[in-house]
Order: sequence, then C-alpha cells, then structure tokens
Amino acid sequence: MVATFPLGDLSVHRVGYGAMQLPGPGVMGPPRDRDAAIAVLRRAVELGVDHIDTAQFYGPDVSNELIHAALHPYPDDLVLVSKVGAFRDEAGAWLPGQRPDQLRSGVEDNLRSLGVEQLGAVNLRLHDGGGHGEDQQVALEDQLAEMVALREEGKIAGVGISTATPAQVQQAIDQAGVVCVQNAFSLVDQSDADVLDLCVEHGIAYVPYFPLGSAFPGTPKVVDDPAVQAVAARTGATPAQVGLAWLLAHRPNVLLIPGTSSTAHLEENLAVADLQLTEEDLAELERGR
Ligand SMILES: NC(=O)c1ccc[n+]([C@@H]2O[C@H](COP(=O)([O-])OP(=O)(O)OC[C@H]3O[C@@H](n4cnc5c(N)ncnc54)[C@H](OP(=O)(O)O)[C@@H]3O)[C@@H](O)[C@H]2O)c1
Repeated sequence: MVATFPLGDLSVHRVGYGAMQLPGPGVMGPPRDRDAAIAVLRRAVELGVDHIDTAQFYGPDVSNELIHAALHPYPDDLVLVSKVGAFRDEAGAWLPGQRPDQLRSGVEDNLRSLGVEQLGAVNLRLHDGGGHGEDQQVALEDQLAEMVALREEGKIAGVGISTATPAQVQQAIDQAGVVCVQNAFSLVDQSDADVLDLCVEHGIAYVPYFPLGSAFPGTPKVVDDPAVQAVAARTGATPAQVGLAWLLAHRPNVLLIPGTSSTAHLEENLAVADLQLTEEDLAELERGR
C-alpha cells in the first residue's frame, strides 16, 4: 500500500487524525480530561501522524487550543488542516458562516489560535444556507473567490471543499483547484461514491469524515456492522480497524482522519496502515451493499 498521498504540494501519510472528539460532549466546551486530550495529540505525532484535521468551531476554540498546547512548536512535517464556513451558538447549534468576511475571519482565527502563519489546507464547509437569513445565501463562486484570495495571500497552502455535491466539487476544482474534498463516507454509508470517484479522476485527496460512523447518535456505526464484525473475528483485527482498512483499500486517494479522544483507540486506528485485507475480506465487506 502506498503510505502517503499528496495534499496539493504537500504529502501526508494516509492515516492522520481528526481532532473533533477532543472537546467535551457534543463538541462543546473543554475535554473531560485535559491531560488525556493532550496525551492523544502527542502520541499521534510520536507515532508519525503528519496530518491533523481541526476547526475553530470545535469547542468552539477548544480543539485548536489543545493542539497548540500539546504540539507547538510543531514538527516541520506536520500539516494542519482546518475548515471555515460555520460557527456555533451558545447552545452548541452548528450555524452557517458563509459570507466572504466570515470565511476570512475564520481563517485568521485558525492562524492565531494554532500559532502558524499558514495552514496546510482549509476546507470551505458548505451548508444549504436555507433558513439562516439572506446574508447566508452566498454564491459558491463568491465563497471560492475568497478562498483563492486567502491562498494567494499565503494564509493557506491549499483550498479544500466539504459537504459538497458532485456539481459543487466540480465547480471548486475548476475555479479554485481544490486539493482535497471532505465529505461523509464509510463502509456503511457509501452515498458519496460519486464525489469520491470524481476525486480519483482528478487525483485529489478524498478525506472522509465520519469514517467510523461518527460519535453522534442516530448514524449507523461501522463497528456494529455484522460483516465488519465477522471479518474482524476472522482476521484478529478490531471492527474499527476493519472499517478503516476497507477505506484505505477502497480508493488510493483516501486519507483517513478518524476522530478519537482515546490513546488506545488512536493506536488501534494508526495500526491500520499495516493491515492488509484480503480479496475475500473485501468481497465479504461489500456483499449486499
Ligand atoms: N468537514 C466536516 O464537516 C466534518 C464533519 C465531521 C467531522 N469532521 C472531521 O472528521 C473527523 C472524523 O469524524 P468523527 O470524529 O466525527 O467521526 P468518526 O471518526 O467516524 O468516529 C468517531 C467516533 O468513533 C469512536 N472511535 C474512534 N476510534 C475508535 C476505535 N478504534 N474503536 C472504537 N471506537 C472508536 C470515537 O470514540 P472515542 O473518542 O471513544 O475513541 C468516536 O465516538 C473528525 O474528527 C473531524 O476532524 C469533519
């Protein structure tokens, strides 16, 4: 298996880390155990993670502060990727922030809180904008133009797009030369297969969020899937490892950023870089989907 894939001009290991599980419940407030959260981040880098996905709105402000506290000054090869286009209200609701001035201040907040002059990539996180006021009905063209301006100013190395339809991804490729797409995708939710294949076609990194089915209640969990459990039992890998290894085997441009607040889960997830599923395992996992 090729161990790395390009993220624009940068190159990262195919298994990275997503920092969304570090804040408190509901991705709000401080972690239950700050020392444990710091330990997860330090262990990730110690084990070779060179790609961390974060957002100012995780906490809000919590994940970035933890990353800075745990890892600054950063190793030269660490690629920090964030996202803009959203913010939280006091109750924790996820609200759109799609105006160009909000995208710009989102990038600047990330630069400040992470203590860097440039972010490795920033995903433009799309919402439908419906029901959130006229100012959130911003044409994609205008949002992408702001992201390109931020890249030209050197504040971000690469532009990405997130939670985007095939047509929106194509527009982002044409207008902004995006380096990555971040959409929900896993063995148990392959509804985004068209976007994944579009990324394969263009040689762009596809970074699935919810690779294990997320921490949110109500979404199907990869570890509960009977075929995943059967393959895990046969191979001696854990169900989470089987789900992540399937993603790595599925397409060569997939970069993983599984989220965890646990050092044990982190170590388990990073070990999938060395886990090869057989053709028989892959066929069993795909059967009937
Ligand atoms: N662009 C976007 O809109 C967007 C949206 C959502 C997420 N993201 C990014 O994508 C990353 C991944 O998504 P996610 O964190 O929401 O969901 P996920 O990675 O699918 O799942 C996280 C859940 O899986 C559990 N878990 C992790 N490793 C495990 C293991 N080895 N065994 C059993 N359970 C395990 C975690 O619990 P423990 O903490 O107990 O390990 C947590 O409950 C996020 O961290 C974030 O960086 C982006």
